[in-house]
Amino acid sequence: MRFPWVNVALLILLLLQLASGYLGFVNGEERQAWLLWLHGMGAYALVLLLWWKGSVVWHVLRRRKRWTWARVSFVVSIFLLLLTLVLGLLWTFDGPRYLFGFSLVSLHIYIAVPLILFLAFHVWRMRWILDVDQAVDRRAFLRLGLAGLAGAVAWWLLRHLQGRRRFTGSYEIGSMGGRFPHVSWIDDNPAPLSPASWRLSLDGEVRLPQSLSYEALLQMAAEEQTAIVDCTGGWYSEQIWRGVPLRNLLAQAGVQAGDAPGSARSVLVRSVTGYWRRFSLAEAQQFLLATHVAGAPLDHGHGFPARLVAPGLRGFEWVKWVTAIRVENVSPWLQPPLPLQ
Ligand code: HEM
Repeated sequence: MRFPWVNVALLILLLLQLASGYLGFVNGEERQAWLLWLHGMGAYALVLLLWWKGSVVWHVLRRRKRWTWARVSFVVSIFLLLLTLVLGLLWTFDGPRYLFGFSLVSLHIYIAVPLILFLAFHVWRMRWILDVDQAVDRRAFLRLGLAGLAGAVAWWLLRHLQGRRRFTGSYEIGSMGGRFPHVSWIDDNPAPLSPASWRLSLDGEVRLPQSLSYEALLQMAAEEQTAIVDCTGGWYSEQIWRGVPLRNLLAQAGVQAGDAPGSARSVLVRSVTGYWRRFSLAEAQQFLLATHVAGAPLDHGHGFPARLVAPGLRGFEWVKWVTAIRVENVSPWLQPPLPLQ
């Protein structure tokens, strides 16, 4: 039997798609825009390979009549893969579109996850194709390289036809004082908070733990910062935020940086809902704890009384309804790669 190089190339490309998709999705820094360029190029290479494989797939489906689990998983994988590709391409070329309240880019990600599960089962059933002696066939990998190159050329040629988006793939909405969406990561949806009873605690590895009222925070909230909130749901908005620089709050609490036992290494910012994200001490110094946006106090949906403004990070890091800041002596990496709530 000839080495099924198209299948192996498809598998490798899909794994690269997952990796570049995830890394591009969590990245908010323009200098790493190439992650999603790679994702686009990989997607076009996949389209070319599927075109190639199309007649083989059609032949197999027509020839064998018995529906085994391997066959079902194969058909479902191909279907989900086509759907993922179509939704991704529609998002890129057809502007910001939504279905059942979800952006097409979010839907293509939700479909990519079960796709990988079906594909894993399919590959396990067909594991003989990964036989090492055959897989090192040089021509097979030359062809994979050619498919990748063709994908890159197609991406480069078609990039002028794409909609106007940020490097993250997000479309602009309501910048500089307009309305922009109220969204939260999974289902964070607290009742409105009363400014009279709200407190902000700042504790952990600090010399002077703090508990601040809304009034006290407002008195300190004098710094303005123009920053882009870029939601992984596919939109971004540039706004002027006003609030207290986190570095001022940390200095007021007497944070001690360094490697000594009991010194600060990371800052955990927690919402009243329990949602939290952890940051390195150095990056936290660049953030703002905002009380206002576009000259007005934040509304409930945008995190009243206070939300984090974390320029250069994706929207899910901008914790809303903040009630606690905790300085800890643990690595900033100590958190799930994506929030679980
Ligand atoms: C493994 C299967 C996947 C396939 C086949 C796929 C396919 C695509 C396609 C065709 C596009 C449009 C690219 C372009 O025209 O430039 C796209 C965009 C995108 N994908 Fe995926 N994707 C996959 C998985 C993922 C995953 C797992 C994530 C994130 C966790 C992701 C995140 C993104 C983002 C953020 C964009 C928008 C980029 C832009 O508009 O420039 N993808 N994807």
